[in-house]
Amino acid sequence: MPAFNITVNGKAHTVHADSDTPLLWVLRDELQLVGTKFGCGIGQCGACTVHVDGEATRSCLLTIGQAGERKITTIEGLSEDNSHPVQQAWKEIDVPQCGYCQAGQIMTASAFLHSNPNPTSEDIRGAMQGNICRCATYTRIEKAVSLAAE
Ligand code: FES
Repeated sequence: MPAFNITVNGKAHTVHADSDTPLLWVLRDELQLVGTKFGCGIGQCGACTVHVDGEATRSCLLTIGQAGERKITTIEGLSEDNSHPVQQAWKEIDVPQCGYCQAGQIMTASAFLHSNPNPTSEDIRGAMQGNICRCATYTRIEKAVSLAAE
């Protein structure tokens, strides 16, 4: 099986996998970074969102062969001690219900705020609309993203 050198959360790893293995499974099964969740596997739900060179990216769609030398960040590497402003806002607003989708939500929100630090409500809804929450915590998600932007 081929070997791939990837950098995840600032650490270099060599993983052995078929080149078409989704990054999601490398993160979860090889690196035990299980904060990134499997929801649909077809790019429709956002549960698997990570940052690739700072961009919110669906790790179920990106293969290990495509990941190359790009810098990957998962929810585990977003901050020390959950101190990222988005994570702080998530706690303050008490966003999660079941929690399953929340890592993906936070990774999408943090990449979005990096590119748009002063968003309107419409901007926030537009940026977050691809991340599905079966508990429908959308109002709290919007509030938390707005709070994180302050
Ligand atoms: Fe990747 Fe749903 S698991 S978008």
